[in-house]
Amino acid sequence: MLSAAEVVAKILEEQPKTPKHSQGVAFAPANVALCKYWGKRHHDLNLPVTNSLSVSLGNYGTHTVIRPWEGHSDSICLNGKELTNVTNTNVANTNVTKTFVTRLTSFLDLFRHALHTKTYFRVETESNIPIGSGLASSASGFAAVVLALVELYQWQLERSSLSILARLGSGSACRSLWQGFVEWEMGENILGLDSHGKLLDNTWEDFCVGLFIINPNQKSFSSREAMKITQNTSEFYEMWPKRVAHDLDIIKCAISNRDFTLLGETAESNALSMHALMMTARPSIIYTEPATMQAWNRVFQLRQEGVKLYFTQDAGPNLKLLFLAEDAARISNEFENLLTITPMAKL
Ligand code: PMV
Repeated sequence: MLSAAEVVAKILEEQPKTPKHSQGVAFAPANVALCKYWGKRHHDLNLPVTNSLSVSLGNYGTHTVIRPWEGHSDSICLNGKELTNVTNTNVANTNVTKTFVTRLTSFLDLFRHALHTKTYFRVETESNIPIGSGLASSASGFAAVVLALVELYQWQLERSSLSILARLGSGSACRSLWQGFVEWEMGENILGLDSHGKLLDNTWEDFCVGLFIINPNQKSFSSREAMKITQNTSEFYEMWPKRVAHDLDIIKCAISNRDFTLLGETAESNALSMHALMMTARPSIIYTEPATMQAWNRVFQLRQEGVKLYFTQDAGPNLKLLFLAEDAARISNEFENLLTITPMAKL
C-alpha cells in the first residue's frame, strides 16, 4: 500500500515539475451530500467504505490563488486574515485556524514530495460559506487548491485524477470538481486510483438548496474524528453500507425521474440515519442542537401543510433544506436569513 504522498507522485509522474505561471487562480464549489459518506476503508488515502452522492452549490464555494513563496514556510491568508503571521496572535492561535493551517500545509507537503521541491507557497483563499460548521467548506477548499496548482504548473490531467488528488485532502472534496449531481465511486483499487467523483448526466433547473445556519461556530468533533469513532465503536456500523447502497439506488432513480418527494424523503432519512449511527458511538457524537431540532420540526410541520420540503445535515448543527423553486418564497419566509441556492438554474 502506498502513502498519500506516493499516490500524488504517481499521478504527477509525467507532469511539469516547475511552475509555468506566476500564480494559479481557481474556484471550486461546495457540495452537499444527498447520500452520505461516513466511514473509510483506508484512513490516510481517504478511501471510503461506500459510494456517496452530492449536489454542488454553483457559485458558493472557495476561490483560491496560489504562488511560489520565498519564505521559510507556507504563507496562508483565509478570508482576508493572515493565518501564518506569528505576530498576529489573535488570529494565528485559535484552534480553528491551527487546524486549518496544519491540514493545508500537510496537503501541500504531498505535492512538494511529488515535485521534489522545498518550495513554499503563498495561498490566498476566500470562502463564501462558513468554515468548519459542517457546510462543506473543506471540500471546496481542497478542490480549489488542486485546481489552482493545476493552473500554476499547467498539469494536463483528467478530472478524475484531480478528483483523486482533492480526495487526499478531504474525502468529500473529490465531489467538488464538478457542478451538478456527482457520485463518488468508492472503487476497489488498493491505491484508490479508481476512487473518485463522476458527474451524473442529469440536471434539475428548479432544484434548490437552502443553507440554514443555526450556529456558525466550529464543530466540537471534526468529521474525520467523528467518522473514525463511529466506525470503530458503533455496533450498528455494519448496517450502514447496506443502507447506503439502498438509498443511493433510490436517489439516482429519483433524480432521473425528477421525483422530488422520493429524493427528499430518502436524502433526509439517510442523513438522520447517519446521525443516529453517530449517537450509538462511544463516546456519542451529537452535532444536533436544540435549535436544529426546532428546525427539523418546522420542516415536518410545513410538510404536513403540503409544502415539499426536506432537509439534510452533515457534521454540524446547520441544515441544508431541499426544495423546488416554486416553494422558495414560502420557505424563505419561514426560515430567517435562509441562503437559497439554485445550483442548476439556467442562466
Ligand atoms: O470529507 P470529510 O472528511 O469532511 O467528510 C464529510 C462527511 C459528511 O459531510 C458528513 C458527509 C459527506 O458525504 O459529505
